Amino acid sequence: MRDRRQHLAPELLGWYDNHARAMPWRVSPSDRLVGVVPDPYQVWMSEIMLQQTTVVTVRNYFLKFIARWPTVFDLAAAKDEDVMAAWAGLGYYARARNLLKCARVVADELGGKFPVDEPDLQKLPGIGPYTSAAIASIAFDRSATVLDGNVERVMARMFSVLEPLPASKEQLRGLAKSMLPKSRFGDYSQAVMDLGATVCTPRNPSCGVCPWTKDCVGRKQGIADTLPNKTPKAKKPTRLGICFIAQGKNKDVLLERRPDKGLLGGMLGWLGSEWAEDEPEFAPPFDANWEKLSSEVRHTFTHFHLRLQVYVCAPLDKLPQNIGVVIADFDDADLPTVMRKAWQLAHKA
Ligand code: ADE
Repeated sequence: MRDRRQHLAPELLGWYDNHARAMPWRVSPSDRLVGVVPDPYQVWMSEIMLQQTTVVTVRNYFLKFIARWPTVFDLAAAKDEDVMAAWAGLGYYARARNLLKCARVVADELGGKFPVDEPDLQKLPGIGPYTSAAIASIAFDRSATVLDGNVERVMARMFSVLEPLPASKEQLRGLAKSMLPKSRFGDYSQAVMDLGATVCTPRNPSCGVCPWTKDCVGRKQGIADTLPNKTPKAKKPTRLGICFIAQGKNKDVLLERRPDKGLLGGMLGWLGSEWAEDEPEFAPPFDANWEKLSSEVRHTFTHFHLRLQVYVCAPLDKLPQNIGVVIADFDDADLPTVMRKAWQLAHKA
């Protein structure tokens, strides 16, 4: 089996040589060829950002982070709240807290050098099987199998794996491993992810331009575009909540810093109720002329939908100093998306 597939990796690498997407953290195949090597710090940063987020969204955040914190030592020395604010809008905020923890371990305990192999990388905060394989291969050109959603889809189609995800995950990993080349491991990891993102797309795959089309079993069977099969997920429940937007007259606002553990951990948010499936009962955080907005914020998290009622009051001469945190010179870009939506709802029209 292994031998019959030997031509596949070189074919994909040939395709990548011509079609690699340009990304700010990526060393192009032609630059690699003349000895340019990627900066492991940048590879690590991009791969943490790319977990659960698209390349298009990550690009600007990546550039902002690298401009502000050009080395792992700079990031390790950053203030927690500055990093959380810069991350606002990317979601999955535990990633940002782990990013900072990891930078501090690498800077303080490893002399600023990232480990080069998967087991050592996985000892670091926020680095699991996917990210360790991506860093080992892309940053250090080590043989490693990256398995993200794109690669799962490519393998399920190539080998017509009918078993649904997530049960088929380890089978897909084995198949992905069986395809690895004998060299150019970093380029290959990126090539197979690019193929999934640009050619072997979830809907309407472009099989006519795929370098693997003649070997794709799913295509031969006419079912490539239906794969991978997936076990249906439980329907998301809807939770309800209330929040209160208090602002002062000098671009200052009253917020709270959410606890490190849990949803939106470590981020700023408006004061308000718990979010639960029952109608919330919650008193305002202090007396004022609170007014309920006629529409509400809707936002979807990984495990539930949220409907958030928003109360506002006229700008106050002085915000209460004994509850939450008063943020001077407020910028709504520093808020996680759901909280920014509430602010924007209160300020539209
Ligand atoms: N998705 C996540 N990391 C990627 C990378 N390095 N190249 C292409 N797609 C990716």
